[in-house]
Amino acid sequence: MTQPKKLFIKTYGCQMNVYDSERMAEAMGGQGYVQTDRPEDADMILLNTCHIREKAAEKVYSELGRYKGLKAERPDLKIGVAGCVAQAEGEEIMRRQPLVDLVVGPQSYHRLPDLMARTSNGAKALDTDFPEEDKFEHLKARPKAKRGPTAFLTVQEGCDKFCAFCVVPYTRGAEVSRPADRVLAEARDLVERGVREITLLGQNVNAYHGHEKGLAGLIRELAKIDGLARIRFTTSHPNDMDDDLIAAHGDCDKLMPYLHLPVQAGSDKILKRMNRQHTAEQYLRLIERLRAARPDLHMSGDFIVGFPEETEEDFQATLDLIAAVEYGSAFSFKYSERPGTPAAERPQVPEAEKDDRLQRLQALLTRQQRALQDAMVGREVGVLFEKPGRMPGQMVGKSDYLHAVHVAAEGLAPGDLRRVRIVESGPNSLKAVLV
Ligand code: 5AD
Ligand code: SF4
Repeated sequence: MTQPKKLFIKTYGCQMNVYDSERMAEAMGGQGYVQTDRPEDADMILLNTCHIREKAAEKVYSELGRYKGLKAERPDLKIGVAGCVAQAEGEEIMRRQPLVDLVVGPQSYHRLPDLMARTSNGAKALDTDFPEEDKFEHLKARPKAKRGPTAFLTVQEGCDKFCAFCVVPYTRGAEVSRPADRVLAEARDLVERGVREITLLGQNVNAYHGHEKGLAGLIRELAKIDGLARIRFTTSHPNDMDDDLIAAHGDCDKLMPYLHLPVQAGSDKILKRMNRQHTAEQYLRLIERLRAARPDLHMSGDFIVGFPEETEEDFQATLDLIAAVEYGSAFSFKYSERPGTPAAERPQVPEAEKDDRLQRLQALLTRQQRALQDAMVGREVGVLFEKPGRMPGQMVGKSDYLHAVHVAAEGLAPGDLRRVRIVESGPNSLKAVLV
């Protein structure tokens, strides 16, 4: 019997890349490839890349450099670059790193087996088109294997917002939604295979229009699937939060009380220059409406410090906004110049200033997160258990609010959804007992 070929995939960046990597692995599975977590054993190495900040792209080139030895030992080894760096840099990647055999953009993954076949005689293959056809439809159906209790499901891709700092509208293209019936079929299949929580993904997921009633309509349909216990979605833009989606946070039990809603900055001058199309006040009013629908909603956000021409006063406005919202979690970044985006042309904030602001911002966010987490002690909450903890007899899962929760109890299994009482708050997780 011939040995199956081995595929090593390394995924960078957002959850959408995690989902895409799973689907690419499935597509290559149809070509007889099995996945390995050791690049040394692989017949094909695929880097699924991220272009959102400069560092993310540089990491890809340094990772590629590390495969030189492997490729020299085994010239048959195929090396591919997928994802947003592939889309943005295309052939430049092969020029800069000649060991790359294949470059494939995020909208062309269904063509991966063909591209691979083209490299068999040592030729190079490149596909960074935005084809009309739906890549997900063309990717082989998910195999019927059992899965863990949580899964990502991409329902929307691309972005039409053109924030002045962001490469996504260029690398992922215009907004496209998958039709609701296909999403529902995929969700039912995931649930049959053991999935109890689905996180709907999209660069601008709340701009979803594959259902006549938008994302809320899709969520309400998904909520009817027996066995599916939890629904989450990410990432959203404040301007696409419609009334029905706000209401769903109050009246759809399966929709979890945690919302990632990036605002990026708190100064109206900066928000305008970022082309965010809303003010700080509008964002705060929106959160008020969301919390009126669901008072215990935990907010999460993204922040950029040191956007071009951001003054200390502008930065203070971001700190004020954070103080007003009280975030349960957040991601924060120093502004990174992306060639081809409008903000890259503006006067830049010195790096030392960015460092200082990031530190102050993160200190505030950490204090807030910790305070909210500590306030969970004594409360009862649902936990979906995912895997055994490091201590014997312990299981780890996620609370409704997405905290990591440890419980020591007999007989718990991955996929169990139980009520627990929080008894302790540690640096990165909560401890709880079953109720
Ligand atoms: N520099 C820094 N952060 C950025 N983001 C997007 N583009 C940039 C950039 N050029 C951040 C935003 C976005 C998150 C995914 O990445 O905060 O919400
Ligand atoms: Fe980028 Fe998000 Fe703005 Fe779209 S809405 S341009 S993905 S930051």
